[in-house]
Amino acid sequence: MAVIPVAIAGAPYEVRIGSGLLAGLVEQCRGKLRKRRVQIVTDAHVHAAWGAVVEHALHEGGHEAAWRIVPAGEASKSWEQLAATVDWLLAEEVERGDHILALGGGVIGDLTGFAAAILKRGCQFIQLPTTLLAQVDSSVGGKTAINTAAGKNLVGAFHQPALVLADLAVLDTLPRRELLAGYAEVVKYGLLGDAEFFGWCDANGAAMLDGDPALREYAVAHSVAAKARIVAADERETKGLRALLNLGHTFGHALEAQCGFSDRLLHGEAVALGMVLAARFSATRGLLPRASADHIARHFAELGMVSEVAALGLNCDGQTLTRHMLHDKKMDAGTLPFVLLRGLGEAFLARDVALHEVAAFLDAELAR
Ligand code: NAD
Ligand code: GLY
Repeated sequence: MAVIPVAIAGAPYEVRIGSGLLAGLVEQCRGKLRKRRVQIVTDAHVHAAWGAVVEHALHEGGHEAAWRIVPAGEASKSWEQLAATVDWLLAEEVERGDHILALGGGVIGDLTGFAAAILKRGCQFIQLPTTLLAQVDSSVGGKTAINTAAGKNLVGAFHQPALVLADLAVLDTLPRRELLAGYAEVVKYGLLGDAEFFGWCDANGAAMLDGDPALREYAVAHSVAAKARIVAADERETKGLRALLNLGHTFGHALEAQCGFSDRLLHGEAVALGMVLAARFSATRGLLPRASADHIARHFAELGMVSEVAALGLNCDGQTLTRHMLHDKKMDAGTLPFVLLRGLGEAFLARDVALHEVAAFLDAELAR
């Protein structure tokens, strides 16, 4: 098992990564499950795949599981599910010192984390991430949120978990498409600050995705360690460091919005395409060799991922896409900062990007 400390001032915690952690849940959570009854929020897919393992582990450890099972999918990050989850936790008489379990992908982590943040002005919660994306990104760092009619993740809080248990065994039941989407966030850590790790992805990504256990542990642990360093130094995204984690997200978010935040394009797929676009845009600005940008696209294509925006068949122009960017929550005094690349492994925040420049670039990409 790998153990990565997340050294957030005032709220440090561990991310433990290994196979079989859910089966050993009670031992892993020693000192945290204070009462017989334990509240777990999950979604229907995850409950079907892993509910029995968690139920059995709790039962063996002398606990009783209380489940809240929400529908699988992004739509559960809603006011309605938040209210119903908080009401359920209140009815369960959860106290501030109790630990609520969030068993699922980024949707469950974000919803449960936000519920924990506002319940009694802040309760404890434990992340049990079950997607690759959640293990390497969303379960770490304390961003929690729901979506509203105005957009994605616009209402939320910073609220750190008390512990993260990333059980690598859960990835065995994850659909391949979801695994690949999460892999985009793994590659992100290489591209934004660690060229050697991008090289590792080039050499080992395919075998890791095919299930090699040692490679999986390395990919998750290395990604979590990178994220832990960043969030410990800039928890609230005020110092220009955590913002680098948004590499590919501004372009990606516009593509997701154009696809109606539907299954047509998963978040991680949009991030992969977004990173290709950020790299190509950096190349058009003379910051990065064009061959390096194409290298990223080739890396995703070789794994069977969509790597060209033109392949999405969006039937829109560049300006339509940049219009979605106007609602980005990173917008600051009329300027949208973009994470660009000076090299593979060298991201920086550019504050001088005009949206008409981006629109013209996207027109060319859409017509490729
Ligand atoms: P998700 O939670 O919707 O999970 C994807 C699908 O896989 C769902 O259908 C789910 O039921 C299923 N699933 C999950 N684990 C499974 C397993 N082990 N076996 C079988 N099926 C399983 O999606 P996601 O990609 O994990 O997360 C996306 C969300 O994360 C978005 O809402 C995004 O905004 C958010 N996010 C948050 C942060 C953050 O820092 N808080 C970072 C990145 C993304
Ligand atoms: N996923 C981006 C962040 O946690 O800041």
